[in-house]
Amino acid sequence: MKDILQELENRRQTARMGGGQRRIDAQHGKGKLTARERIELLLDEDSFEEFDMFVAHRCTDFGMEAERPSGDGVVTGWGTINGRMVYVFSQDFTVFGGSLSETHAQKICKIMDMAMQNGAPVIGINDSGGARIQEGVASLAGYAEVFQRNIMASGVVPQISVIMGPCAGGAVYSPAMTDFIFMVKDTSYMFVTGPDVVKTVTNEVVTAEELGGASTHTRKSSVADGAFENDVDALTEIRRLVDFLPLNNRDQVPVRPFFDDPARIEVSLDTLVPDNPNTPYDMHELIRKTADEGDFFEIQEEFAKNILTGFIRLEGRTVGVVANQPMVLAGCLDIDSSRKAARFVRFCDAFEIPILTFVDVPGFLPGTSQEYGGVIKHGAKLLFAYGEATVPKVTVITRKAYGGAYDVMASKHLRGDFNYAWPTAEIAVMGAKGATEILYRSELDDPEKIAARTADYEARFANPFVAAEKGFIDEVIMPRNTRKRVCRAFASLRGKKLQNPWKKHDNIPL
Ligand code: HXC
Repeated sequence: MKDILQELENRRQTARMGGGQRRIDAQHGKGKLTARERIELLLDEDSFEEFDMFVAHRCTDFGMEAERPSGDGVVTGWGTINGRMVYVFSQDFTVFGGSLSETHAQKICKIMDMAMQNGAPVIGINDSGGARIQEGVASLAGYAEVFQRNIMASGVVPQISVIMGPCAGGAVYSPAMTDFIFMVKDTSYMFVTGPDVVKTVTNEVVTAEELGGASTHTRKSSVADGAFENDVDALTEIRRLVDFLPLNNRDQVPVRPFFDDPARIEVSLDTLVPDNPNTPYDMHELIRKTADEGDFFEIQEEFAKNILTGFIRLEGRTVGVVANQPMVLAGCLDIDSSRKAARFVRFCDAFEIPILTFVDVPGFLPGTSQEYGGVIKHGAKLLFAYGEATVPKVTVITRKAYGGAYDVMASKHLRGDFNYAWPTAEIAVMGAKGATEILYRSELDDPEKIAARTADYEARFANPFVAAEKGFIDEVIMPRNTRKRVCRAFASLRGKKLQNPWKKHDNIPL
């Protein structure tokens, strides 16, 4: 009996060594942790329950039958993050370069199926050379099985991808279909075709880092939602993110202890908006001063900085924030910011996370590059996303809300529940100067007359009261009271029930 027990321990020990000490050392040498070390850091201590530790591949081509390491290059199972259940897979680069075989894919599919049945997020740690070359189409089939589950799980349980090594070829499409992608600087990359193929086909000479490193995907392509300095940093931040998320689409947002007075007054906000309407200010300040303990988990921080997206808590409950950022492009909406915010709004709506919108938007960015790039369709994404969202929506206009962008940014007309404005709000079709130049074109050569017309227009529209008279703004609030008013608003909306008409699915302008 003792021998049998010892045999189990020996087998486990062998499995835990993955591709062996030499390859583990090589992994460490690159500044990367092993698949198991990553899981240990991600999950609560001793909470990991592993599945399929002894699964081995079935390939007999290219002499593969001689090498059948236990686990087949991926560690899978479930555990907890601050006591809340998550499923996880972590590819083991020390075993055939973490490449995906038929059985490797089956292990991932098993935990994805369980995650959907039991209503818990899936976190995938990617570190893989792609399809297991020796297995050919069996490996491609494995990928497609994973893809299909990514699609079925979308909007059912949160899916988070962490890229901690190579992720290339068709393999990138599994992370691409998850809710969030995070990368590690300098050690991870994602591309559909690598630098060699790029050179052959397009003659471009580019490094892997330039083509698909963290900087590229957080700043240029927006494929990734964030990047971290190293493995430890990344996994710590994923734990922080998971704390904000509901476990599934039928779960409530998590409620965590909070130590910040919901009625806290922030006198400094009374002077946040500068006297000059063209002087920018940092919208982060308003977000942090509204949030519990100033805690803001920003999504896509480095991309389309003219809009801010991320999670805060109010009275311990998660709220998604979307806010125009006057510091960048005056906070206007454009292709990138519309896409960024639309995806975020849809994530929040899918998982019943209420949405807080701070508005200071001078309109859509004009220009041929925007029009040729399809700003009409991309801008419509955000409009569509806000309009279809049935979660509680609270909006605060701090300054400009001009033109179509006023409508788009969670206005009353798109079923905003509470639409507040600061006294500094200006709600109009366009700014005073532009408006008078169109309305009084014949007086343009008389600067005095035009100045008087502009002043007139400002007096009429550069305030929130015309909109408030019509009930489009529910209340004009003191900036200092923003946290208090917003907390009370969301508290009053906890029982909100709103349903869209039955449909198979909508046809959002993609
Ligand atoms: C089998 C693989 C492998 C693969 C790496 N290995 N990739 N084994 N299938 N796809 C093995 C290597 O043989 C090596 O084994 C070990 O993993 C580590 O690889 P190295 O090359 O030594 O590591 P490194 O120098 O860090 O380079 C990593 C790499 C490179 C850039 C990922 O290995 C590479 O280019 N691999 C091939 C990538 C690729 O073309 N994959 C197919 C893409 S197509 P030993 O025994 O020496 O440790 C694809 C389609 C998916 O993925 C389609 C989905 C629809």
